Amino acid sequence: MLKRNSSDFFKKNGYSILKLLSSNNISCLKSDLLKKINYKSSNNAKLLNINNLQNFHRLNFTNKEFRNILDNSKRYINLNKDIIKKVNSKIIDNFLKDIWGHSDKKIVWVGNPKLNEIKFNCAGYRIFPPSNNKDKKSIFLDEYHIDSYNNDPKSFVTIWIPICGLSEKFTMDIIPKSHLIDHKSKNLFVKNRKYISRTIKNNFTTKLKSFRPRLKFGEVFIHNPFLFHRGGKNLGNFSRISLEIRIFNKEYFNIKKTFNKEFYY
Ligand SMILES: [Fe+2]
Repeated sequence: MLKRNSSDFFKKNGYSILKLLSSNNISCLKSDLLKKINYKSSNNAKLLNINNLQNFHRLNFTNKEFRNILDNSKRYINLNKDIIKKVNSKIIDNFLKDIWGHSDKKIVWVGNPKLNEIKFNCAGYRIFPPSNNKDKKSIFLDEYHIDSYNNDPKSFVTIWIPICGLSEKFTMDIIPKSHLIDHKSKNLFVKNRKYISRTIKNNFTTKLKSFRPRLKFGEVFIHNPFLFHRGGKNLGNFSRISLEIRIFNKEYFNIKKTFNKEFYY
């Protein structure tokens, strides 16, 4: 049996779960996120601290503030040096060497590449209120999709970091092994592109078995850009908060070539 933290498991299933972060790392990420939320909203947000961030949905944000905090074009934080050190640690480097043959990387946050929303050493964040919350609904895409900007599976990997919500009630919904499906087949994708990501047709995914992983504190979920995944409903009773770090393969990284217009216009 392959261990779920191994690169062989990743090659076979399209994802892996690695123990990467310390409790101090997670506190720092929470505090960076809080600064961003405070900066983008009224005094109301000052009620939040690193110990109650999961109560985000209980605050009285106006719809405008709520959307502003989750605005796609600015939904990122700058990564502090300790987190960058972790991304450059042996755990990640050895993993990348196994899947890419080297570990030369660039950490890149990508909003809409068409609008040049590209930032280095930054991570995206997402906040999902509980699905049964009537006032604040999740504004994110909840259909299976892939994250690619080109046709190269070695172009990047995504590290998904749960900040609040580690169990199956909160985590991403994925289809193991779906990265092996021929993503070049045009039949696979929904034609009407409301989102940058390529959405998979429903009739295709209903036949496939999905899964929501359970993570331990400090663990992160790393996945292939072609793995079918979606946010999944927040079935818990607090806000689910996560970060995404994209590690691009430096060997091929080139703003014009990496972000192939054909895939997201
Ligand atoms: Fe995605």
